[in-house]
Amino acid sequence: MNISTPTLRVGLAGLGTVGAGVWHRLASQKDLLRQRIGTEIRVDQVAVRRAERAREIGVPESHVVSDWRKLVANPDLDVIVELIGGTKDAFELTQLALQNGKHVITANKALLAERGAELFATAQKHQRHLLFEASVAGGIPIIRALREGLVANRILSIHGIINGTCNYILTRMNEAGLEFKDALAEAKQNGYAEADDSLDVDGHDAAHKAAVLAALAYGFWVPEGQLYTEGLRAVEKQDIIYARKLGYGLKLLAIIKTDADGAVEVRVHPTLIPQSHVLASVNGVFNAVLVRGDVVGDTLYYGRGAGGDPTASAVVSDLAQIAAHFPQEQKARNVGHEALHSRLKTMDEIVSRHYLRLQVVDRPGVLADVARVLASRQIGISSVIQPEAHAGEITPLVLMLHDAPESQLQAAVLEISKIGAVKAPPVHLRVEDFE
Ligand SMILES: NC(=O)c1ccc[n+]([C@@H]2O[C@H](COP(=O)([O-])OP(=O)(O)OC[C@H]3O[C@@H](n4cnc5c(N)ncnc54)[C@H](OP(=O)(O)O)[C@@H]3O)[C@@H](O)[C@H]2O)c1
Repeated sequence: MNISTPTLRVGLAGLGTVGAGVWHRLASQKDLLRQRIGTEIRVDQVAVRRAERAREIGVPESHVVSDWRKLVANPDLDVIVELIGGTKDAFELTQLALQNGKHVITANKALLAERGAELFATAQKHQRHLLFEASVAGGIPIIRALREGLVANRILSIHGIINGTCNYILTRMNEAGLEFKDALAEAKQNGYAEADDSLDVDGHDAAHKAAVLAALAYGFWVPEGQLYTEGLRAVEKQDIIYARKLGYGLKLLAIIKTDADGAVEVRVHPTLIPQSHVLASVNGVFNAVLVRGDVVGDTLYYGRGAGGDPTASAVVSDLAQIAAHFPQEQKARNVGHEALHSRLKTMDEIVSRHYLRLQVVDRPGVLADVARVLASRQIGISSVIQPEAHAGEITPLVLMLHDAPESQLQAAVLEISKIGAVKAPPVHLRVEDFE
């Protein structure tokens, strides 16, 4: 090795799926990285709760500490990689590391969504980098694309399939005709869903990632609790079948966009998208993000959203970014402070087309009753599907509706649910046409 090659000294916190991936990939790609960057990236210390885990991974005992506080206090480390997850210790760790003059790399979208504003303010104050390529869409370099590749653009919209578990479940419901609970069980069996499935299936993980993308695109952190989030639990196999008959696929979509007045909408929910649209063919655990810039037009990013190696690839790319300029200092860039005047639209203001499935008693006049409620709120019907049934039986009534503000639609749904012939809570899904 050339004696003058600088060395970036790294402290690794956490040796789980991603931490182990980072350890292995830094070892296997060591020479390649040194050639490409001109700096050696070396893990000098690893914080891990269980010493046997470090042995399993092959981390030398001399590198291991059991308390992450020792890592962030170590004056010989340049960068801390936070891969312990959660938001309590991870927040403290990140704050202290930045305050101690270290750069920090994290894959933790929950941490950024909840505490990003404070963390980036600390990073800015201490002029340290806080990088987070692995936090959204695992192996897809979407963060760098937004921060660098598309820097000349005002971002008009981002549409993302950014939760692999949900996309796997919807794919299996579509392709194998499974009901939601069976597709979820299969995802768990195949290691694509955690035992505690709520973070993924209820949309929270996608919402955390949407908050990160929105901060990059529009320069502010969506306040906690104000990002509209709806998961998959209400979706049934029949909704996927009806959507297909109507020419649509169903995806859990993160939608982030701005209008001509600069108001921003950020939402996550199951969404009907035209079958012919490229995002409709993103299947299984794959992720994809479609970004529309005012200069470049549409750009699409596709790849694995999670897993040890894809996520490690993103973490190592952040390390390489710091190492490439090391030891010269680059200006640290803040996130989420540029457009303090951007206004977040409430869900009530969002206008879209809608899909409505009702379970109704098959008797004359029901469709007319439903149509009357919709008409009273200026909501037009664009198509109707009602399978043939015997009089008096309960049967689905599926309606595709024209553009309507969410507030009007919700009020209509409430009124419709009170019609005597409507026998179950209506299933309501939104439609995205990418106009
Ligand atoms: N897995 C993925 O595909 C993926 C993809 C993108 C982003 N991420 C993000 O990456 C982060 C890590 O995820 P992961 O899947 O690698 O998690 P994981 O497999 O659960 O690993 C977490 C690791 O951190 C350790 N740890 C937890 N609290 C600690 C503490 N207070 N002090 C020291 N060590 C501690 C755990 O040790 P013990 O085992 O001893 O408890 C374990 O080694 C999360 O923020 C996650 O959201 C993960």
